[in-house]
Amino acid sequence: AAPTPEELLEIAIKIVRDAADTASRMRAEGISGVTTKSTDTDVVTAADRAVERQVVGALREVRPGDTVLGEEYGASAVAGPGAVRWILDPIDGTVNYLYGLPQYAVSLAAEVGGEVVAGVVRNPATGAEWTATRGGGAYRDGQLLHGSSQTELGQALVGTGFGYDAARRAHQAAVLAGLLPQVRDIRRFGAAALDLCAVAEGRLDAYYEKGLNPWDHAAGGLVATEAGLLVGGLSGAPPGLAMVVAAPPALFKPLHDRLVELDAAGGP
Ligand code: IPD
Repeated sequence: AAPTPEELLEIAIKIVRDAADTASRMRAEGISGVTTKSTDTDVVTAADRAVERQVVGALREVRPGDTVLGEEYGASAVAGPGAVRWILDPIDGTVNYLYGLPQYAVSLAAEVGGEVVAGVVRNPATGAEWTATRGGGAYRDGQLLHGSSQTELGQALVGTGFGYDAARRAHQAAVLAGLLPQVRDIRRFGAAALDLCAVAEGRLDAYYEKGLNPWDHAAGGLVATEAGLLVGGLSGAPPGLAMVVAAPPALFKPLHDRLVELDAAGGP
């Protein structure tokens, strides 16, 4: 029989805790193996690769028929029928990790039939852990989460993030310049998975970012959804590369509509 979301979450929690230990141990030992990926600002460290290898290895032991989509090594093997696809960001917030800023995370989600059904995000620096199963609510360290009930865009504290590509950043800066005068303020913490968890617990009213990959938002997106937020893309599209917006129901449309206007100016 197909595993339940709760069973998948249990597997994910155990693996992510071990992975988080590796990430913080490697941070304490000193950063090594720093290289760049898509651009000069897109860094990867030996820890990103080691954590991904560890998680993929652990998943293969307990769920040998599943596939893994990871940030550093891409997709593994071909999914068998009914297989689970695990979506992994070994270290989300790599730049924070590099600089010793305590805002980075291991993020792991389980997707069945194209739908994320379980997710865990853990901050190794603080030990905070967010979990969710589809239909089962979102939790931080065992405590049930509810997002903000903010209804006014002008009163909203909005998180966002920037990609690594210069042309995309120029566009993101233009969108930000249009939005900033119309909100309470903007935050850029540097790890998308944690931003989505911050929205889930009302530490941000809303969050948006263009250009996110599945591993950035799969687990955190479920945590936010299960905490009562609407998580979507633009114009009815699912959340994805084009945009991820997470906001309380009353705030989603005003934020979304403003982003559509600002995004229409064009850009990658
Ligand atoms: C990045 C972070 C950042 C976001 C970027 C992501 P990484 O992930 O989540 O906050 O703005 O778009 O690429 O590279 O540190 O795993």
